[in-house]
Amino acid sequence: KNISLDITKAAMFLEQGAVKAYETKVKEAQEALENGTCPGNDFLGWLHLPSSVTPEFIDEIQAVADTLREKCEVVVVAGIGGSYLGARAVIEALGNSFAWLVNDKKNPTIMFAGNNIGEDYLAELTDYLKDKKFGVINISKSGTTTETALTFRLLKKQCETQRGKEEAKDVIVAVTDACKGAARAAADKEGYKTFVIPDNVGGRFSVLTPVGLLPIACAGFDIKQLVAGAAAMEVACGKDVAFEENPAAIYAAVRNGLYARAGKKIEIMVNYQPKLHFMSEWWKQLYGESEGKDGKGIFPASCDFTTDLHSMGQWIQEGERTIFETVISVEETNNKLYFPEDEENLDGLNFLAGKRVDEVNKMAELGTRLAHVDGGVPNIRISVPALNEYYIGQLIYFFEIACGISGNILGVNPFNQPGVEAYKKNMFALLDKPGYEADSKAIKERLAK
Ligand code: PA5
Repeated sequence: KNISLDITKAAMFLEQGAVKAYETKVKEAQEALENGTCPGNDFLGWLHLPSSVTPEFIDEIQAVADTLREKCEVVVVAGIGGSYLGARAVIEALGNSFAWLVNDKKNPTIMFAGNNIGEDYLAELTDYLKDKKFGVINISKSGTTTETALTFRLLKKQCETQRGKEEAKDVIVAVTDACKGAARAAADKEGYKTFVIPDNVGGRFSVLTPVGLLPIACAGFDIKQLVAGAAAMEVACGKDVAFEENPAAIYAAVRNGLYARAGKKIEIMVNYQPKLHFMSEWWKQLYGESEGKDGKGIFPASCDFTTDLHSMGQWIQEGERTIFETVISVEETNNKLYFPEDEENLDGLNFLAGKRVDEVNKMAELGTRLAHVDGGVPNIRISVPALNEYYIGQLIYFFEIACGISGNILGVNPFNQPGVEAYKKNMFALLDKPGYEADSKAIKERLAK
């Protein structure tokens, strides 16, 4: 069984045959990705990554994860953007919602840092770690990202102070470039175990490299199954699969149709399981950084339902009609919980007694779908049989390949992110980074005006 796509409630907002009309463009995009003739073709290492991960490589990652699991109560994963979101998305989707409170000692607590410059966040984190046996996975492809590097500087020092330099060496792992960058330099000097992020895999497409696999294995999840799920989707979304049968082709086609032909400029990724919050965060980066350029691109937003029906529901139902929804619907939850009968029925909810929580959730989903479609919001539904490694792996590859196809249809290079540099240049100029003298002078003059 695979994840599946239902676009009937989205295609109805387009003229008859509009989705099918994208078939040629989709095929061209798929050919260009396969043949490496598309823009950004030096970043296509993700395309056949799932089927090329060897069992030996999985074992190597697992062995390092096992060392960290054995030696650490807490593993801090330092990284940002593509070096952060995939691991967090998978760990939260698969883990206990209260993992850090119910730690059964079987798994280390996984914490994330290096993804912000919040002083309180870092002060509180380092304070929490004060009496913990902790390790660090330092993830940065460039090895020079400020947020991650600054955090690693703090954590490295603390780890060495608490555990001694020798022991710290065994619980600090770097995932970075093969030769360049500060993370590589530190790892080589200190003798840390390292994994290389392949040159041809961009950050936001790197969750199935050690960037994601190592933290996910540390958290106790089955990375073999994750990769197997992704490999199954690599087959299901292959370029020779018929257009109608290929979920990635259809998703890419329908979202481009809604954007270009129906004025739907915003896509809201919706879940009905709080565990999927970070899958949406990962997806937002994947699509936002890939498509938002050259003055184009669907704005990727996200909502957690039913939570956000009580905050954003009004806007979605009746605000500007420029949105469509993509809903991730989980068919079977991992737990069964029934509402009890209550003699007094003070809350009037006895009509739900004996029903599972998920039955109510599914009716909330169906009711919302009907209401939003009635309100002019196209609805794409992605059905996921269950939340496990295999299906999350499928979801990851499905979104990646659909993103590659979609960006090509849109006519952008989906594999670069030139716009990300603008803030960094200003920040470095403001902080008087050596080498930025002229920019520093210019920005200070500008601010003084
Ligand atoms: O997708 C991307 O390329 C970015 O989001 C990067 O992953 C992010 O900026 C972090 O970069 P790095 O891994 O070099 O620290």
